[in-house]
Amino acid sequence: MAERLAVFGHPVAHSLSPGIHRTFAEQTGRTIEFELIDAAPEALADAVRAFASRGGVGANVTVPHKLAALELVDAASDRAKLAGAVNLLRFESRTLVFGDNSDGAGLATDITENLGVALTGMRVLIVGAGGACRGIVAPLLAHGPAEIVIANRTHSTAQQVAARFAFLGRVVSSPLASAGTDYDVVINATSASITGELPALRPSVFGSASLAYDLFYTKDGETAFTRWAMQNGAARTADGWGMLVEQAVECWRVWFGITPDAKPLLR
Ligand code: ATR
Repeated sequence: MAERLAVFGHPVAHSLSPGIHRTFAEQTGRTIEFELIDAAPEALADAVRAFASRGGVGANVTVPHKLAALELVDAASDRAKLAGAVNLLRFESRTLVFGDNSDGAGLATDITENLGVALTGMRVLIVGAGGACRGIVAPLLAHGPAEIVIANRTHSTAQQVAARFAFLGRVVSSPLASAGTDYDVVINATSASITGELPALRPSVFGSASLAYDLFYTKDGETAFTRWAMQNGAARTADGWGMLVEQAVECWRVWFGITPDAKPLLR
């Protein structure tokens, strides 16, 4: 019997998750039935419950529902609680919904394994202090960087996020324009790339071996931020495609206890 999976979003038609999960299903010999469920915010809870009662096994949750999903689940993982957001659901029964977050683990795997940047002992700059930033701080800290600096246009938000994670490692905040220099890794976690805008950073944030990483992804692997980074001293760049693939791998671990091979999907 096919195992039912879904992605909840609004809109959701553009989601690349179905293709990724279908590839994993072919690879692992599982039969899945994947639904795209477009639910307006006020309809999300009912849509999730209805999917559970139809026998859903697991789901992804995407924009704009990641924060609200944490509120509607019956139980949540520590990493989802820390992130304040849920991007993956596992249905423990037709009525019990478990929330988790694989976004940060996906990013950390992409950086350390696919891009070969260890993070340990490195200086990391995260630009942006919204939900995307909150989701990645703890998984990055788990790799033991020397420090994480969170720089945000609204400095007070960066201060709050840095304070929230300070018990896990060295995390400090900074205004954007004085974000420091020579980072090993610079991560764009702002929503600026969606509209092709750039955060007002100084090029001196890049060191001679810097990786510039944009959580946003595009068809050709380039974003306004990665282009700007290449022109302004970053040694290499990556968009968020690898993170999307790796967070999906992590979903399969949570849903089925198996680890599909990400490599055929990576650029
Ligand atoms: P997400 O869940 O994607 O993180 P969010 O919570 O709305 O979305 O946060 C968006 C982040 O992008 C914020 O850090 C925002 O900065 P502010 O807190 O100052 O609003 C940042 N952001 C959006 N557009 C930006 C831009 N043009 N320049 C710099 N930062 C920007």
